[in-house]
Amino acid sequence: MRAAWMLLACCCLVLSAMKDPFKDFNLQKLNSSVKPGFPKTIKTNDPGVLKAARHSVERFNNCTNDIFLFKESHIKRALVQIVKGLKYMLDVEIARTICKKNGQRNLDTCDFQTNHTLAQTFSCYSEIWVIPWLHKFTVPVLLCH
Ligand SMILES: *[C@@H]1O[C@H](CO)[C@@H](O)[C@H](O)[C@H]1NC(C)=O
Ligand SMILES: *[C@@H]1O[C@H](CO)[C@@H](O)[C@H](O)[C@H]1NC(C)=O
Ligand SMILES: *[C@@H]1O[C@H](CO)[C@@H](O)[C@H](O)[C@H]1NC(C)=O
Repeated sequence: MRAAWMLLACCCLVLSAMKDPFKDFNLQKLNSSVKPGFPKTIKTNDPGVLKAARHSVERFNNCTNDIFLFKESHIKRALVQIVKGLKYMLDVEIARTICKKNGQRNLDTCDFQTNHTLAQTFSCYSEIWVIPWLHKFTVPVLLCH
């Protein structure tokens, strides 16, 4: 069951990556003056980190066929690197909420499952690439187990 899920997530990610018109060569044309930096540890409660974690969980929800939404439950580690924008690298735990996908979609107000049958947590490694000056982001990597 779990394996099938993760496979689904991967397929979806590959597809959305290929459909994404916002490709690397465009970025380089736009901004070749930015020097890439080394990844730096950043506070897990940094607003940018929280936003990045939310982006990755939204991607997870879009790519799985669970009837419930998942939400980030704990950000274990966060790194950020300047790569034509900001690339966040997160170790994040996500857990199933009581909110159904086809219902309300505001994750902030969704509580986690308390029912033992339905409660589930995944550990994910996620990379979220944010281009602030274009108001764009992509989630090129999302691995959960
Ligand atoms: C290039 O990146 C810098 C930030 O590092 C930004 O201030 C600037 O607007 C960018 N230039 C373009 C053309 O996007
Ligand atoms: C997920 O899907 C919703 C609507 O289908 C969309 O608004 C949102 O941007 C998507 N999020 C990601 C991270 O792909
Ligand atoms: C937990 O969820 C299962 C599956 O939906 C359901 O059958 C069961 O009644 C629930 N248990 C409680 C205590 O709500």
